[in-house]
Amino acid sequence: MTKAPADMRIEPLAAARFGCRVVFASDDIGRIVETCRRESARMLDAFYAARGLMVIAGLEGIRRQPRALVELSELFGEEVENYRETLTSARFFHDSVEQILVLSNAPPCNHPPPPRAVGDDGRLLLQFPAQANWHTDQSYRRPPPDVTLLLALELPPPGQGQTLFADCIAAFETLGPCMRARLEELEAIHAPSWIGRSRAAVENGEPVLDLLPHQRPQRQPILRRHPVSGQTSLYLCEEKQLDYVDGPVVGLSTGPAGEGAELIRRLLAHATQPDHTYAHCWHRGDLVIADNRNLLHCATWYDAERYTRLMWRTTVMGNPGGEYAGEEKSWIPADGSPIMAGMEHA
Ligand SMILES: [Fe+2]
Repeated sequence: MTKAPADMRIEPLAAARFGCRVVFASDDIGRIVETCRRESARMLDAFYAARGLMVIAGLEGIRRQPRALVELSELFGEEVENYRETLTSARFFHDSVEQILVLSNAPPCNHPPPPRAVGDDGRLLLQFPAQANWHTDQSYRRPPPDVTLLLALELPPPGQGQTLFADCIAAFETLGPCMRARLEELEAIHAPSWIGRSRAAVENGEPVLDLLPHQRPQRQPILRRHPVSGQTSLYLCEEKQLDYVDGPVVGLSTGPAGEGAELIRRLLAHATQPDHTYAHCWHRGDLVIADNRNLLHCATWYDAERYTRLMWRTTVMGNPGGEYAGEEKSWIPADGSPIMAGMEHA
């Protein structure tokens, strides 16, 4: 017998200028997926009206039904990515579902939290550069993934391991006209953090890794027009995920002390000011859906010696916008070589 769909309501996210929350009357995962499918148009309208940030609580049951995370992800785009076919180290793979990326400090993932960023009063600092981990997921691929879904399964205590979000449409709209005009044609060069091109790697004189053509850093426009809303957004990344050898900005002087680096720092600080940001304090079973096309996000510190944090992530692609019209995936090798060849240390 088919179960009846779960009742659903959508409300604004408290304590943020953007984002929405979806609340279901049931915690039955099958019923929730069925309701989401039936109400997908309403959910997507709410998602885009809320600048691409949606929180759904109470989905801890997905741990026993991991395919349900893929089914929910399918609502947000035409392709839920198979991580074995992207530039992703095998230590992040889920053991049975190819579309799920595992993020945890526990082995075999061993993904560490970023440094602690709190003020003298102990309060969490949100703004770059005090909080330095702001990024969009896997922006070193073209086209980059549209939407990220992040499910919390094990968490440190409250006050640690939050995820921050910044509304980069608001960030664009609060720039002055001269800066907007300056950014119009500019591109940043996005690069994996493990190839010796990050700001810190260049400052420390680390060797630059030889890359196969499909692994090379990718240019991305600093301004993107959202394919659904038509709104213009900043598209940026932390200094760990940009190329400070040949960039970070095409046409501006290169390196950590160059004009491009100065512009990136200025834009990141602007985009992550308090008026544009939201800090999500996780509860087990929360699913956060975030639009990479117009949001930055940032994990925060937690005590990884004492606690385990376990998140499952999917990314969805297929509608990156006019800037990427007709493009092939940059990360697929033309010669059939392994995607991560030579990057096994990542
Ligand atoms: Fe991320």
